[in-house]
Amino acid sequence: MKTEGGTADAKRRAGERAAEEVEDGFVVGLGTGSTTAYAIDAIGEAVADGLEIRGVPTSFQSRRRALEADIPLTTLDAVDGVDLAIDGADQVVDDPDSSANGALIKGGGAAHTREKLVDATADRFVVVADPSKLTDRLERSVPVEVLPDAHTVVAERIRTRGGEPTLRDAERKDGPVVTDNGNLVLDCAFGPISNPDDLAAWLSRLPGVVEHGLFVDLADATYVGTDSGVERRTY
Ligand code: 5RP
Repeated sequence: MKTEGGTADAKRRAGERAAEEVEDGFVVGLGTGSTTAYAIDAIGEAVADGLEIRGVPTSFQSRRRALEADIPLTTLDAVDGVDLAIDGADQVVDDPDSSANGALIKGGGAAHTREKLVDATADRFVVVADPSKLTDRLERSVPVEVLPDAHTVVAERIRTRGGEPTLRDAERKDGPVVTDNGNLVLDCAFGPISNPDDLAAWLSRLPGVVEHGLFVDLADATYVGTDSGVERRTY
């Protein structure tokens, strides 16, 4: 599992705090990554103690983790809605004076397409993060999931906007990362992103783009695990 940045304790605190928001009867979106994994484990413990919920995983990884935790699972097409989604992030804007406060870059685990679907469907979307994810301005590369046939065409369009796309390579497999949906990922460096909403809308309009990792105006709160506790940001 990807564990770059942040301490495991901080991630665990954030994940466990978010899991406390889960109530009996909830349908819960289960995000992907090392921080959300702590939330999934904590939800699993609550289920073992009698909590009745159903989880909607956002990736092969979160599905496996939830199965290991004995969380009953369902799918989006089998439920009326999602009460709460808990998910990690690669960057979170942490500036109350910015119009982008709470905007995210996701997709470090190449799961952002299903994550965005589930997180955006949820009545409430809570981000779990450690302090290394907080930033004044989004500036990491934006993961863009593309249809395999479209990767060169989309890459060229990204360059016209000043971005530098890199096809994400797999580790321990020759060739590219293939997503859970059978697509490829372009990591697109744009430098500091002054207007994430505008870039998000532009990326969404590109033919061949399945989904990108800019999550703007989606999160309701972020739990930031620290060395000593958990800080809560609301949007
Ligand atoms: C996967 C994601 C993850 O939520 C994001 O990469 C954060 O992961 P971690 O909690 O391991 O740092 O967007 O696509």
